[in-house]
Amino acid sequence: MEIMGRGFTQIIQEMPCYFHIFGKFAGYKLLNRKSPLYGSADIINVCNLHCTHCYWWLNRKENEELTVEQWQKVIDEKFKKNHVFIITLVGGEPTLRPDVIDLFVKQFPKRVCIVSNGTLPIRKIPNLYFYWISIDGTKEIHDKIRGPGSYDKTRKHVLEYVQNNGDKAWKDIWITMTINSQNYKTVKDVMEEWHDHTNKIGFQFHTPFAKGDPLFLPFGPERTRVVDDIMAMRKKFDDDYIINPDSQLELMKKNWGGRGTTPIDCPTWAIVSVDHMGREKRPCCIGSAENSAMKPICEECGLGCYSVLVGYGMKG
Ligand SMILES: C[S@@+](CC[C@H](N)C(=O)[O-])C[C@H]1O[C@@H](n2cnc3c(N)ncnc32)[C@H](O)[C@@H]1O
Ligand code: SF4
Ligand code: SF4
Repeated sequence: MEIMGRGFTQIIQEMPCYFHIFGKFAGYKLLNRKSPLYGSADIINVCNLHCTHCYWWLNRKENEELTVEQWQKVIDEKFKKNHVFIITLVGGEPTLRPDVIDLFVKQFPKRVCIVSNGTLPIRKIPNLYFYWISIDGTKEIHDKIRGPGSYDKTRKHVLEYVQNNGDKAWKDIWITMTINSQNYKTVKDVMEEWHDHTNKIGFQFHTPFAKGDPLFLPFGPERTRVVDDIMAMRKKFDDDYIINPDSQLELMKKNWGGRGTTPIDCPTWAIVSVDHMGREKRPCCIGSAENSAMKPICEECGLGCYSVLVGYGMKG
C-alpha cells in the first residue's frame, strides 16, 4: 500500500506528525484556526538558468546567503515551531547548496522535497522524500523556456538516476510542469514521455506578475480544454500518475485565488515560505519579504500548492 509515495511502515512511523496535521485540519474546520501545514525555503540565491517564465528572477537582489548554522535557526523558528509536515526546498537552483539540503533532510527525514531543474547530476539522498523535476514541455519548447541544451541534460540526469540507484529509484522522481501559452499543446506528450521513467506528475499554470503577460494562458475554452484533457488522462493512466485531484483541476479553469494582487480565497496561511535570508515571504511562496517587490497577480494565479488546498476546502 502506498499513499502519495509513502509506504505503510513509513505512515505508521509518522503517526505523531499525522496527529499534528489532523489537529490542524480539525482546528481549521471547527474553529477556523489557521496554522501552517507546509513549509518552503529558497535555500539559495543563485541559479544556473534564466528561464523566461521565472518569478524568482523578478525580485532577486544581490545579497548574501545563510550558513548551515543560520539555516538551523530558521528551521527551529519557522518550521519546527509550527510543526509543518512537508518542506519544499526551492531557489534559485537548490541542488547547488548540498550542505543546506543535507541539513533539512537530517532534520525532516522523508519529509523534504527538492524542486530542481535537473541540469546537474541528481544525487541520491537517503531519507529524501522526493525530487520535483521541472519539465516545461517537449524538448524544443522546454529549451525555448529554459535555454538550449537544458532538456537533454535533465533527461540524461533523470534516466541516470533511475538506472543507477536501484529498482525503486524511479519512485524518487516526480515531474512538475508549469503550463503556459507556449507549452500547453505539449501537455499530453510530456505525460507520455515521462510516464515510464518517473513516479508522478503534477501540473500547475503560469502565474503572471504583470497584466498582459504573454505567457499567461487566459481563462476560456483553450485553457478549459487543457484541464479537461488532463482529467481524461488521469482516467486513462489509472495509476495515480497525475497527482492533481479533479477538484483542483476544475479550479484551475478560472480565478480561484483573489482580486488583483490581493489573495482572498487563497489559503496563504497554510504554507510558511522563507526567502534565501530566512525572511518570511508574502503573500505566498512566490512573493517576497520586501514590500516594494513586484507582486503576483492572484486573480490569474495557477499555483498548484495552494489551489490543491482550496480544492480540499481550505480557504484564506
Ligand atoms: C523557481 S523554481 C526553483 C527550483 C528550480 N530552479 C526549478 O526550476 O525547478 C520552482 C518552480 O517554479 C516554477 N515557476 C517559475 N516561475 C513561475 C511562474 N511565474 N508561475 C508558476 N510557476 C513558476 C518553475 O517552473 C519551477 O517548477
Ligand atoms: S531554473 Fe528554476 S529558479 Fe532558475 S530560472 Fe529556471 S525556474 Fe527560475
Ligand atoms: S498563491 Fe500567491 S499569487 Fe496565487 S492566489 Fe495565493 S497569494 Fe495570490
